[in-house]
Amino acid sequence: MSDLRAKYLEQIGAAPDAAALEGVRLAALGKKGEIALKMRELGQMSAEERQAAGPALNGLKSEIDAALKARKSALEDAALDARLKTEWLDVTLPGRPRPTGSIHPISQVMEELTAIFADMGFAVAEGPQVESDWFNFDALNIAPEHPARQEHDTFFMHRAEGDDRPPHVLRTHTSPVQIRAMQAQGAPIRVIAPGRVYRMDMDQTHTPMFHQVEGLAIDRDISMAQLKWTLEEFCRAFFELDEVELRFRASHFPFTEPSAEVDIRCSWDNGQLKLGEGNDWLEILGSGMVHPHVLRAGGIDPDQWQGFAFGMGIDRIAMLKYGIPDLRAFFESDLRWLRHYGFAALDQPSLAAGLSR
Ligand code: PHE
Repeated sequence: MSDLRAKYLEQIGAAPDAAALEGVRLAALGKKGEIALKMRELGQMSAEERQAAGPALNGLKSEIDAALKARKSALEDAALDARLKTEWLDVTLPGRPRPTGSIHPISQVMEELTAIFADMGFAVAEGPQVESDWFNFDALNIAPEHPARQEHDTFFMHRAEGDDRPPHVLRTHTSPVQIRAMQAQGAPIRVIAPGRVYRMDMDQTHTPMFHQVEGLAIDRDISMAQLKWTLEEFCRAFFELDEVELRFRASHFPFTEPSAEVDIRCSWDNGQLKLGEGNDWLEILGSGMVHPHVLRAGGIDPDQWQGFAFGMGIDRIAMLKYGIPDLRAFFESDLRWLRHYGFAALDQPSLAAGLSR
């Protein structure tokens, strides 16, 4: 009996896992286990023998049983410890950085259109947003009584009494950069001028600040046909279309003669806009041949040189290209909103650095 006891207690203590332990239990206490066999032998014993062996056997049985239970819970504790160790989570680790911020649709479109015009030989010209009214109006052949100057369109800069500097405005278009480019570099010229412009205008589709890109090409024999080719080429590249069709509508601007507003062929299907096909037209820019008065104001001889100019709304073409239905994306610049339209987080550190400057 003490041999049995020693054997099983040792096996229990050595059982490496629950399965091994169950094996020991069956061998000892199972129906055909060694203890059960011994119990059966009790029947063949004399009464005295039985009186001594019975309780001893029962004692052994419960001792083994208790040892099994103890070993089982020890094994479970060890398993739990091991699991806790592998599943350990260091909450003090710094989080993985997620790229934040996103390039603004307007910035992206400015980069896109600058690249396309650069391929056609256009450099970028700039001018101030607070502009003298001479550059913004007079030099562009806009007479003092022209409606564009009137208070409801133009933001005039305040002047203190006695301030005799020339009157200034927030530029109402990028066209004054035409004059600045002419004065700065003379003919020939091929420039675009993207930037902010301001008008006192505020409704669902207008905001007091918006963006235009001006185009100006001056040479000995620049023609309207070249204007048309340039704009078609631009639209094909910018809107990523094989075919675009532009419609030139006779119009009037004081600084071009003749003048044309340009529409792009499109269709509206269930509120879904498609460019390049359909029976609708969407205005995207104003254009024309540079007026001789304007060339002269820029210091260029209109008998020697001629050119075309155009002015295009950047917000408008950005919305068209990216299917942005309203101006929220531009002014709230909500990241979730921008991501919805595919504007990814900045992942080019160099670009991000450049933009934050
Ligand atoms: N400056 C004009 C506007 O803001 C656009 C334009 C530019 C038209 C150049 C003709 C030539 O509406």
